[in-house]
Amino acid sequence: MEFKIDTFEQYQSIYQYSVAQPEQFWAQIANEFLWKKKWDKVLDWNFQEPTIKWFDGAQLNITENCLDRHLATKANQPAIIWEPNNPAEQHRTLTYQELYEQVCRFSHVLQRNGVKKGDRVCIYLPMVPELAIAVLACARIGAIHSVVFGGFSAQSIADRIIDAACAFVITADGGYRGNKEIPLKSVIDDALMQCKTVQKVIVLNRSNTPVSMIKGRDVWWEEEIKMVEDLKLKDFPAVTMEAEDELFILYTSGSTGKPKGVVHTCAGYMVYTGYTFATVFQYQPKEVFFCTADIGWITGHSYIVYGPLSQGATSVVFEGIPTYPDAGRFWDVVAKHHVNILYTAPTAIRSLMQFGDEFIDGKDLSSLRVLGSVGEPINEEAWHWYHQKIGKSNCPIVDTWWQTETGGMLISPIAGVTPLKPAHATFPLPGVQPILVDENGAEIFGNNVSGNLCIKFPWPGMLRTTYGDHERCRQNYFSTYPNLYFTGDGCLRDESGNYRITGRVDDVMNVSGHRIGTAEVENAINAHTGVIESAVVGYPHDIKGQGIYAYVICEHDFINDELMRKDISQTVARIIGAIAKPDKIQFVKGLPKTRSGKIMRRILRKIAEGELSNLGDTSTLLDPDVVASIADARIN
Ligand code: WTA
Repeated sequence: MEFKIDTFEQYQSIYQYSVAQPEQFWAQIANEFLWKKKWDKVLDWNFQEPTIKWFDGAQLNITENCLDRHLATKANQPAIIWEPNNPAEQHRTLTYQELYEQVCRFSHVLQRNGVKKGDRVCIYLPMVPELAIAVLACARIGAIHSVVFGGFSAQSIADRIIDAACAFVITADGGYRGNKEIPLKSVIDDALMQCKTVQKVIVLNRSNTPVSMIKGRDVWWEEEIKMVEDLKLKDFPAVTMEAEDELFILYTSGSTGKPKGVVHTCAGYMVYTGYTFATVFQYQPKEVFFCTADIGWITGHSYIVYGPLSQGATSVVFEGIPTYPDAGRFWDVVAKHHVNILYTAPTAIRSLMQFGDEFIDGKDLSSLRVLGSVGEPINEEAWHWYHQKIGKSNCPIVDTWWQTETGGMLISPIAGVTPLKPAHATFPLPGVQPILVDENGAEIFGNNVSGNLCIKFPWPGMLRTTYGDHERCRQNYFSTYPNLYFTGDGCLRDESGNYRITGRVDDVMNVSGHRIGTAEVENAINAHTGVIESAVVGYPHDIKGQGIYAYVICEHDFINDELMRKDISQTVARIIGAIAKPDKIQFVKGLPKTRSGKIMRRILRKIAEGELSNLGDTSTLLDPDVVASIADARIN
């Protein structure tokens, strides 16, 4: 399938058409996909409840689009190229035929273990092909997958399993990331002490790590597959799904409370990820696409698995990290597999920049045609380095702005078509209607303006609800500004209409491209027995984009600050995961609070940023003196 756009003028006219006649536009796009039955109605929506239905009445299975329909023409083309953590280990290639067969076999395994349409399955696997296979097998059988990133703690997994009432877990004995070995099964065992809903755990042998297998509950992936093979079970007919049946849940942090389960549904998500993948990268047949994200995040769901596979692309699955065995690993992978499109995060770029050119020199990057960036604002310095050193000034960079909730990219250049402006996501994709609003929700018109970014019309890939709590979805995204989807991001629109996303305006941090709520980290810190209260803010960090700064009030004096800091960090790692460990912990006697007891984060943010001269009005505080004492002892 090709969604070719040749010129910027062509983009503009498609865009205008998509806004004037959205239903016709999306129907035309959707016609390029494989349906068991076409829709009765393209779109039904209101943003008050909200209710969003795309392609209502249609029936499909997304895996038929990702697998079956490619078999006639692409059976022997690689669908997945897997590059292991350790470059000395053999890489693996799965053709579309092989991926199809393995997904079918594993679908049988799921079925034999009692998984049915609508069941929730938690997947906690390292970045091996079996992760994609597990995801696709769930989709094939109609089960709802909830993938949890391998870096989350037992407690975080338990929370997610309980929230979705998962009855099944798919994991591995262990996994590798750089020179670390992660004991995945043992983390799952800890998590499952709290999860009474789980009946079966399917365990992949990845690392030969000794694990305890619980009788009646735990089975080995390989043994289950063997049984299916012995029974000569091959094809697995894809279960018929209604357009708005749930495809998956993915948990993400918000500004309050625990992470929420963002729900995406079958038809809209399929159409949107496929269309945006093909359009933004202008993907050409046979090209090799390498997205460096983990499948545990939305980027991996949409642009390692579903988007590329629905378009018959070759998608690289990389198990390792950018700096192992050295800071040239990405470039080695690009050279080894002749990668044409590289899609990575600013954090990775900034961290590799520091190592200098020696890790790039001599690497053959000539296969690269397009570069992409995702997950956080890319600063100009990183943009130029990426453009010159990696793209040799020949490859467009698509700075793609989007969110877990949006399912796919919303604002992004189209490769080779949109005039680029460093650090700008440029223009909305066809079908996407962004607007900027002021605090009162009034639209800000014209150019050279800034405001809060909202979207005023639905797009097929948007979230439908938050699992088990529709009211939370409404409150979070649709209540701040009536009749608008609120993104939580601040945004500039320059003199030519280019959008530049400036970062979150709510209490969500973006640390190394990972979303973490300040409240989540505070709750974790407060769980430590020695802690009375804490306040957490993000601050600018050279490599991570944002770092985590924690102000902590402790019960009584203790002898060793460093030890206490370690202790608190450990507690956070245990409760959330290592990604949420604070970078700085300052012990304080009090926090700046209003008379009604609300913490004034604005002041704490300024102190963390080092902007001490301009702390703003502190006269409304309960105890204004507390500010000076915090500022004096600020950690640099
Ligand atoms: C931020 C990741 C600037 C933004 C796909 C958003 C970006 C949050 C960009 C979503 C970008 C993502 N430029 N900021 N190109 N892409 N963001 O849910 O703040 O993990 O709200 O989805 O990342 O993060 P999430």
